[in-house]
Amino acid sequence: MLLQLLSVLWEALSLQVVLVFLATFLLIADYKKQIRPRNYPPGPRPLPFLGSTLHLDFKKPQISAQKLAEKYGNVFGLQTGNIRIVVVNGLHLVKEALVHQGEYFVDRPKSPVLDKIFGSLGLVFSNGLIWKHQRRFALSTLRNFGLGKRSLEERIQEESRYLKEAIEAEKGQPFDPHFQINNAVSNIICSITFGDRFDYHDSRFQKLLHLLDEALLLQGSLWSILYDIIPSVMKYLPGPHHTLFKKWGQLKYFVREIIEKHKEDWNPSEPRDFIDAYLNEMAKEDSASSFHEENLLHSALDLFLAGTETTSTTLRWGLLYMAIYPDIQAKVQAEIDSVIGQSRQPAMDDRDRMPYTNAVVHEIQRISNIIPLNVPRLTTKDTTLAGFHIPKDTVLLTNLTSLLFDEDEWETPNVFNPGHFLENGQFRKREAFLPFSAGKRACLGEQLARTELFIFFTALIQKFTFQAPKNETLSREFRIGLTVSPLPYRICAFSR
Ligand code: HEM
Repeated sequence: MLLQLLSVLWEALSLQVVLVFLATFLLIADYKKQIRPRNYPPGPRPLPFLGSTLHLDFKKPQISAQKLAEKYGNVFGLQTGNIRIVVVNGLHLVKEALVHQGEYFVDRPKSPVLDKIFGSLGLVFSNGLIWKHQRRFALSTLRNFGLGKRSLEERIQEESRYLKEAIEAEKGQPFDPHFQINNAVSNIICSITFGDRFDYHDSRFQKLLHLLDEALLLQGSLWSILYDIIPSVMKYLPGPHHTLFKKWGQLKYFVREIIEKHKEDWNPSEPRDFIDAYLNEMAKEDSASSFHEENLLHSALDLFLAGTETTSTTLRWGLLYMAIYPDIQAKVQAEIDSVIGQSRQPAMDDRDRMPYTNAVVHEIQRISNIIPLNVPRLTTKDTTLAGFHIPKDTVLLTNLTSLLFDEDEWETPNVFNPGHFLENGQFRKREAFLPFSAGKRACLGEQLARTELFIFFTALIQKFTFQAPKNETLSREFRIGLTVSPLPYRICAFSR
């Protein structure tokens, strides 16, 4: 009896010893991971296993970043799981990293979520030679299919006519413009990439736009962050992260189907769009080895997602701000009436004669700040920034919020004020305005986005006055996914 009792006691004790040993081992391993290299940027002390996660509000990361910069300075360090992150703030240092030391920070970091969805392919998340070849090809093909040319402008003017018709059909009643705007903007990149636009009543395409919206929201969620920190655990746990992968699977299937259709009726001597041009490139004997079908799928998918979400989110912010500030909207309308009138479509040539409207479009982009911490970069070599040591493989976040809301750069950073971009009634360029980022890896669609924003916005304000529905207050609250977008809202559009 005594022997039995001793044996049970011994077993319990040895289990405890093993557990204590294991916990100590994990703590030491975790502690070792969190030891900062010499002269590493300062930052909050990482907690065991949690790293700096408690210092970040995942629903408002740009606000956390601003607070941490106030405390630790313009370059500070964070840690989540195995990942070391350095956040860079302020115009001078952000330009130093993106432009002057651009080649040291040109890569994108890998993450379990991104790996599962995008692999290392396409335009946005690829690195090295694959990225170089895909980016160069995409830029020259976008140019061949109209970027910077009259034909693309006409395409956007035609699409804005469809958009106006759809909004007019709402007859001044409250409606949520989200998916009409999404559809219109998406049609521009779709016609360049896939050779087709999609009708606003095409239920399959509408479903796809909803899928994209949901996938991008889930990508910014806590579930996705948890998957990145502990993929081996999250893989087996149920949760919305599985829905995220499923939705991306459906989006890929949509693009794959379009590629298959293109292969059937491809005529190498008459490329109709990006996909045809890519098939031509693949068929060349001397083309780089990265031109294969999976890269075609991912480059086309990247153009579709980057070209749809960003510009349409900015336009949705734009209509919201116009309804919140009717005086500003009226001034835009007065300028449109005197420069363009009501009988023709706005064109890019008008922009130089419309400093106020141009300033409003810029101010919408500044204050809506849709990619507040930029798209992350990865350090390719050990380097020094602001005197701090940044080791190879550190994730770099260049805080665009710190530029777009800098009190030393903007007279009233937190106020919607088109005057930020005006001087003596003329349009004024501002150095701290970098919503498309800068350097070799800056936004590939900047010119397209600027053309779309000016023409769509001006065409809508030319035709309608946007107002809050009776007895409803419009909110500037946002939600965060891959971009910062307004909470769903309803608005009334009255024909002028
Ligand atoms: C208001 C609209 C837009 C904004 C604010 C925006 C902003 C950005 C930003 C901040 C980046 C990251 C740049 C960096 O890492 O330094 C980016 C990358 C990118 N954007 Fe845009 N973008 C917009 C519209 C577009 C459009 C219309 C396209 C379609 C062609 C596009 C395609 C891309 C691509 C392919 C990349 C990845 C570039 C690379 O990694 O080399 N963007 N964009």
